[in-house]
Amino acid sequence: MSHEGLNIDDPGVILLGHAVADVPPSELLLVCSGPLPGLRPGVTRLITDVRERPHAGERCLPLTLPSAVELSASPGTYAAAVVWPRAHLGKDFSLLCLARGALALRPGGDLFCAARKDKGGGSLAAAIEEMMGHVEVVERSRGYHLYHARGEIDRDAALRHLGARYELHAPLVSEAPLASVPGVFCRRHLDDGTSALLGHLNAVDERQILGHQRAPRAVIDLCAGIGPIALWAAKRWPSASILAVESNLLACDLIAENSRRAGVDAQIRALASDGLPATPTPTDLLLANPPTHAGEDELGRLLAPLPRWLSPGDAWFVVNRPGRVVSLLTKKTDPSPSHLDVLEVPGFALVHARWGA
Ligand SMILES: C[S@@+](CC[C@H](N)C(=O)[O-])C[C@H]1O[C@@H](n2cnc3c(N)ncnc32)[C@H](O)[C@@H]1O
Repeated sequence: MSHEGLNIDDPGVILLGHAVADVPPSELLLVCSGPLPGLRPGVTRLITDVRERPHAGERCLPLTLPSAVELSASPGTYAAAVVWPRAHLGKDFSLLCLARGALALRPGGDLFCAARKDKGGGSLAAAIEEMMGHVEVVERSRGYHLYHARGEIDRDAALRHLGARYELHAPLVSEAPLASVPGVFCRRHLDDGTSALLGHLNAVDERQILGHQRAPRAVIDLCAGIGPIALWAAKRWPSASILAVESNLLACDLIAENSRRAGVDAQIRALASDGLPATPTPTDLLLANPPTHAGEDELGRLLAPLPRWLSPGDAWFVVNRPGRVVSLLTKKTDPSPSHLDVLEVPGFALVHARWGA
């Protein structure tokens, strides 16, 4: 499986699959673990990203932001819950997943988590103990520990982790603080690359951004995260419609929340999607802070549809090293841009591409 942090051959994933192989599938909840080997059809799996597709017989549900009702809900109904920590999403997200798993259990239910002992396993075990009263290591394999707990759930401790939220102050994009949660990009402060892109665009006029003086009517924020670039665009061009495309489902919920907070929800539409959707709509401007860890194929797939959306139109990317985006824009888009240049800004490079006139 290509999605980050999910590999069905990982020794920790194999430990988890063995641990719950005999649990009746309808009573098993996989919390953002990806599919586990050896399970029968009928398992429920929570996912964080549209790219996590259901495997045979699974029921995939989005891991949603907990509502007030969910936060005060009565005990869960599952006999067992499994958590596979996704290191790139942060420890706070692993704690949220453990809390989600613990709260989903019926009294006497089992919580399982596998982690490398030398990569934070100890602190996850401490969090399980805090929420479930105790924890033990029930198996080991190639540096991984399989942690297990069955006990009385300390709901307050679990709810604290499940309800973790952040507020970011980013006057460049919105007067209102931006809401964020574990599991998304951009939790404590506006990303430096995003600041560099928006700082530059703030300082120049439409002619330098789009080659003419008209405000754009349709703007795309590709790989929008919790929406800072979309919010900035809505503030700068109050009559523009902004499409914010993002694959992380929690981040999509936050784009909607942050748009409401900033009073621009009529302008911004959040779309949970793996890259641009199949059917293009005329767009004047695309802005993106693309995922830095994306491989060449993945980045190529994100860029390939651009000429169909931006004809004519402009795209701006903020990157650490421009070579790869420049080369992919040249090789993977058809037609390739009629104008392509790179602008150095402190700490980053801005790649500007134009299609059409
Ligand atoms: C570097 S972050 C930028 C986020 C946001 N624009 C900001 O400036 O804070 C890249 C974002 O791209 C999203 N992403 C990665 N691959 C994607 C894909 N194939 N389709 C849509 N979004 C994707 C990630 O979830 C992440 O939120």
